[in-house]
Amino acid sequence: MARPHIEFIHAQALEWQSGVLPAPFDTVECKILSLDKETGACSTLLRYPKGWSPSGVNYLSADHEFLVLEGSIAIGSQRHNFDHYGYLPAGTQHNNWCSEGGAVTLTFFSASPEASTGSQIDPPTAARHISLHDMKWSSVDVDPDLDFLRIAHKVLRNDEDKGEKTMILNCGAQSHPEDWKEAALSHPCVEEMFLLSGDILGERGTMHAGSYFWRPPNIWHGPFGSRNGNLCLIRFMEGHHVNKWGDEKLPFTLTPEHKPDLPDSLVHHGKEPFTAPTPY
Ligand SMILES: [Fe+2]
Repeated sequence: MARPHIEFIHAQALEWQSGVLPAPFDTVECKILSLDKETGACSTLLRYPKGWSPSGVNYLSADHEFLVLEGSIAIGSQRHNFDHYGYLPAGTQHNNWCSEGGAVTLTFFSASPEASTGSQIDPPTAARHISLHDMKWSSVDVDPDLDFLRIAHKVLRNDEDKGEKTMILNCGAQSHPEDWKEAALSHPCVEEMFLLSGDILGERGTMHAGSYFWRPPNIWHGPFGSRNGNLCLIRFMEGHHVNKWGDEKLPFTLTPEHKPDLPDSLVHHGKEPFTAPTPY
């Protein structure tokens, strides 16, 4: 079963939980942002406690993709500090995995993250480690019809064969469609987003830092804009990212009504708009 449409929740509304993921994550606090109940694939926030150091983990049975939001973790000889991105395909060595001072990570697993203490026969080689600050911004391949958002991006991973792409996106402040009208768009793939800072104004309401959506393929969204600009992590999955534009131009407003699309299990988290901290 695929994950339900979640658009959108604020992570701040979710409780930190313990023991929801298999060992060694049972000792890590977790917020489940979305979950495929059949495969165990999930998108999470993980809070590693200070001094966390599981013993005997050799590798995970799931792809382990993450962005460190706070603190640092180490896996093998690689230290991942805040604003570092990691992608460790299933089977990648996870020995000497620890967090000395604690950490919070935005973490994605492609299946239930079962740990193995055995040795794998054919270790994968496609692991990635990127310090975001060492990567240059680019605007290559941005749809010209989205010029009004002043998008710059950093492509962290692009697997054409699997139809999986992960990127950091930065949009400009005080951005809105020309004449305050634009068509909606959709993609033939899943789009998933976690907002790291700023805001996104859209047809389902106002997203602030900490907001998250999981949007299944072919769901219309937009038009979008922003008051303060934004920085987000976006993943496209289960197909290739193509923008399909609607025929009708729809009005854009700086004060959208709050009407998220949420499964029954999350409706109570999305009843009220989230109030972001103000600078005054
Ligand atoms: Fe989109």
